[in-house]
Amino acid sequence: MTINLTGRDTLRALLQQACGTAESYTIEHYLTMQLAAVRQQVGSQNVLLGLSGGVDSSVCAALLTRALPGQLTCVFVDHGLMRQHEGDEIEAAFAGQALTLIRVNAQARFLQKLAGIIDPEQKRKIIGEEFIRVFDEESAKLGTIPFLAQGTIYPDIAESGTDGSEVIKSHHNVGGLPEDMQFALVEPLKWLYKEEVRELGRLLALPAALVNRQPFPGPGLGVRVIGDITQEKLDVLRAADAILRAALDALPADSRPSQYFAVHTGVNSVGLKGEQRVYGPVIALRAVVTSDFMTAACAPLPLELFGRIAQRIAEEIPAVSRVVLDITPKPPGTIEWE
Ligand code: XMP
Repeated sequence: MTINLTGRDTLRALLQQACGTAESYTIEHYLTMQLAAVRQQVGSQNVLLGLSGGVDSSVCAALLTRALPGQLTCVFVDHGLMRQHEGDEIEAAFAGQALTLIRVNAQARFLQKLAGIIDPEQKRKIIGEEFIRVFDEESAKLGTIPFLAQGTIYPDIAESGTDGSEVIKSHHNVGGLPEDMQFALVEPLKWLYKEEVRELGRLLALPAALVNRQPFPGPGLGVRVIGDITQEKLDVLRAADAILRAALDALPADSRPSQYFAVHTGVNSVGLKGEQRVYGPVIALRAVVTSDFMTAACAPLPLELFGRIAQRIAEEIPAVSRVVLDITPKPPGTIEWE
């Protein structure tokens, strides 16, 4: 993959400096350049990384492990709002690599903080704050680590109107880290667009399931359970979401929607299963096509396909009474429900 350098003069200069005056540069050149840059910046010291399992932090971890085997410690905070098997998949993807992975099972702690909270903004705030608290506690246990790596990518900084590195120093996307944390930032993806990050992930042999991940909100399933969040609702949602995702993952790439997931609507309805009346939750299916996630439309898939998915969800998850399809375009609807 050739990197399109239009508008990224600093990246062009860095690549020229590191790789010579080639006509065009590829993602392999970028990797060579960043391996050297990271080694020069960090030397023999240690680096800390908050691993979320998203594409950016995963590729960042893979690159740093290649550059600095044995010097990277990743903290993965499992807030219990991940999708089915996601925590285990993240752990498995990095098992056997030359890094230290600390998985913090903080599910109970998050559920406790979220108990009874129904306002979406309050949920986001609680999840964000608790996340930082757990991350902070874990990193404090590790003693002094001078470097903090982040999977910052070019669109994160491009909006500030510069492609220079000065702004980066004040920018950090961990958000809310205490002012007195004296980390120097390591941001090896900061010149790349998302598709280039995915390409780099493939080059670094990350599993396709991680590299091709859809966007997933930081607050996770916390904003896909409408109303108060309970373990029971999360379990129902995870099971329904897994059925939807398995069905759409199996579609050919050119007809697969851009993003798809299930929502626990928090509404109960009456259903009939065999001879049994059930009064249980309504699950909504969301599947959208979009190029930039700023506007989106309901994915134009056959209704029969959604019908089969709805049937499986209602049959296989005892509590679920009904499945509905969200056909709202964005705008006015957002992609997520909260
Ligand atoms: P909306 O719901 O605003 O979402 O149409 C647009 C895209 O952003 C994702 N999203 C988030 N991503 N933290 C994130 O990292 C968040 O809090 C968040 N909220 C929405 C959403 O999944 C969609 O892809």
